[in-house]
Amino acid sequence: MATVKLTNVKKIYQGKVTAVHDFNLDIADKEFVVFVGPSGCGKSTTLRMVAGLEDISEGTVEIDGVVVNDLQPRDRGVSMVFQNYALYPHLTVYENMAFPLRLQKHPRMSNDEIYERVTSAAKILGITQYLTRKPKALSGGQRQRVAIGRAMVRDSKVFLMDEPLSNLDAKLRNQMRAEIILLRKKIDTTFIYVTHDQTEAMTLGDRIVIMKDGFIMQVGTPAEVFDTPDNLFVAEFIGAPKMNTFKCELLREGDKYFVAPFGAKIEVDGEKGKLLREKDVVPGEIILGVRPEHVAIASRPGPTAIPTTILVNEMMGFEYHLHVLTEDGTELIVRVPTLNLNDEERAKLVAGEPLYITFEGKAMHFFDVESEYNLIYHEEQPVEGEEIIEDAE
Ligand SMILES: Nc1ncnc2c1ncn2[C@@H]1O[C@H](COP(=O)(O)OP(=O)(O)OP(=O)(O)O)[C@@H](O)[C@H]1O
Ligand SMILES: [Mg+2]
Repeated sequence: MATVKLTNVKKIYQGKVTAVHDFNLDIADKEFVVFVGPSGCGKSTTLRMVAGLEDISEGTVEIDGVVVNDLQPRDRGVSMVFQNYALYPHLTVYENMAFPLRLQKHPRMSNDEIYERVTSAAKILGITQYLTRKPKALSGGQRQRVAIGRAMVRDSKVFLMDEPLSNLDAKLRNQMRAEIILLRKKIDTTFIYVTHDQTEAMTLGDRIVIMKDGFIMQVGTPAEVFDTPDNLFVAEFIGAPKMNTFKCELLREGDKYFVAPFGAKIEVDGEKGKLLREKDVVPGEIILGVRPEHVAIASRPGPTAIPTTILVNEMMGFEYHLHVLTEDGTELIVRVPTLNLNDEERAKLVAGEPLYITFEGKAMHFFDVESEYNLIYHEEQPVEGEEIIEDAE
């Protein structure tokens, strides 16, 4: 069993730069958690505090219920794979993987035990045939696997990975991503994985922690952060191409809500309309978000259609990414699957052509203009020290 718990963890470098503010997270045994966010948001710093490579300025890190703040890295039961894994060039793959085991003195590990561990890790990683080679005779992906193998041979309760795939080319990265998913099934331990790539986060994580400027912006499953982003930052960070977001009027007529983007008027139908009513959201100016894949092409002009002009058509093969311009000059992105388009339809989807677009209630995300919180899904956190007073019966 290996749970990891971070409580009010803070990192202040040289007494000045606060890299991590008040980080709180409970990681379950065998959970795969991904820290994701733009460069400099504090992902590596947080991971390094768990590993013991960085002092914890405030708060506690617990592994399996034991506070590890003052434990040396080797005593924490963690293994770490870095972006710039350095393999020893003069040692074979076998010896590179055996290296951390040979360092262990108490108790010393027998050669048989080392052989057992290295060969079984090599088998899982599919590098058995390279064990006698030197690293320079391997491809980038194979070297990456050796680095992972070197971390795997140790008895670790938690596996920490900091951008392990970022210096591989795009194709190899996709392949290794799938391998990490399989590897995870085989070694079945607790993982914390750091990346700035939202695709990696979405595909690997049981839960994703989205960070910005040293703060956690949201913690959730891939589906939760995609479908119910807590705030504008998460909405725009998760999903590619990114969500279209623009200021727009939210109207209320009787018990119906409408949005009025770019001269159109579209009812917020379905579940989203119901949630706006339940939350009694105040009409007025909001930020509306619609993902490019949830924008539909309207067959004809009409009150619910937004008139635009196609600026650029990026042909992706299975779909087009249309960059379109509204009449007030806002650029939006529309994803259009190509599979069912005939030649005539394709010929109309070119730069300079007019295009009417629309979207349904279920495609809409609503954000407050000031706070940028999601008007439907953001839950106010109770302020510390303030008691929640329940109605006395
Ligand atoms: N040793 C240090 N001294 C002072 N500031 C530091 C130090 N290490 C990191 N920082 C600062 O702390 C912040 C968080 O850095 P961190 O390396 O954790 O970011 P990151 O999210 O891992 O970014 P990246 O995606 O670029 O790796 C940054 O503003 C960085 O400049
Ligand atoms: Mg980093």
